[in-house]
Amino acid sequence: MKVTVIGAGNVGATVADVLAKKNIIKEVVILDIAEGVAEGKALDIWQTGPINSFNTRVKGVTNDYSHTTDSDVVVITSGVPRKPGMSRDDLISTNAGIVKSVTENVLKHSPNTIIIVVANPLDVMSYCAYLTAKIDSSRVFGMAGILDTARYKTFLSEAIDCSPIDIQAVLMGGHGDTMVPLPRYTTVSGIPVTELIEPDKLDAIIERTKKGGGEIVNHLGTSAWYAPGAAAAQMVEAILQDQHRIFPCCAWLQGEYGQKDIYLGVPVKLGSKGIVEIIELDLNDDEKALLDSSSASVREVMAVLDDMALVS
Ligand code: NAI
Ligand code: 2OP
Repeated sequence: MKVTVIGAGNVGATVADVLAKKNIIKEVVILDIAEGVAEGKALDIWQTGPINSFNTRVKGVTNDYSHTTDSDVVVITSGVPRKPGMSRDDLISTNAGIVKSVTENVLKHSPNTIIIVVANPLDVMSYCAYLTAKIDSSRVFGMAGILDTARYKTFLSEAIDCSPIDIQAVLMGGHGDTMVPLPRYTTVSGIPVTELIEPDKLDAIIERTKKGGGEIVNHLGTSAWYAPGAAAAQMVEAILQDQHRIFPCCAWLQGEYGQKDIYLGVPVKLGSKGIVEIIELDLNDDEKALLDSSSASVREVMAVLDDMALVS
């Protein structure tokens, strides 16, 4: 098995590091456009093998896609991260150009690969990769829901004083302030979360989750990488091991949830073919309204990309 990570920045290097530690892949290639950065970080990660007990060969290259040939999965993290005061949508023009050229290069060398998009604005960069790739949408999708759900679970575990591992939750919609955490689908070891926390505290956690990315940007002056890297690596593992795990991922919808021709966060089953199934939940009217509002804001940004006529 071979995985390529495009972008050796904060998120890309973390994806490679977490994947190497899992010790399930023969080779992880990191590719970056900045001279020497991927080589240096890959070497450093590879040299943790004797300490972290893994065999994975981690290799770095500067913009040479021949080394990515026959990758089973490619994770696209190349792009500019958000700075304080900048919305994810501000990133669109720069990152769309990067995602388009990277996707073209990746597919030239790995025509059968599965592509996981991480670059922001996530839903629209997934759309950009899909339009560019012209392959089945089961093989092009985005990472955001696992990260957003992890934030939600982490905050809940602190408020309830329970293990985050025991929390199960569904979160849908775009990767932005309109994301839709679903308390009706949130349980702690099977116990509805509403039986364990007061409504006002739950509401506050939902609001904090929606702004979870911005909270870290405000602390660091750039966006998060540990949780995003771990989340993307979890998706890669589910694919390579054909686990059929159910995760919220950014998927191309063709009528599911009343949404057509849009990339949006929904629960999906991940296996060796990529998205094996999109799970359709029976949302109530309030939940549907929140999802519709989230999809409307994603469509606005999709329209920006469409108007740029960069991809079609
Ligand atoms: P970073 O700036 O640390 O790394 C980006 C890397 O991409 C740099 O090393 C840069 O040289 C490289 N790059 C730029 N153009 C390239 C090209 N054409 N080919 C190859 N490499 C290229 O940024 P960071 O923090 O790693 O974030 C990466 C992206 O991921 C950003 O767009 C960020 O907003 C997004 N992100 C998305 C998350 C999600 O939940 N989907 C979570 C966190 C970040
Ligand atoms: C995050 O949610 C900025 O999308 C990035 O951390």
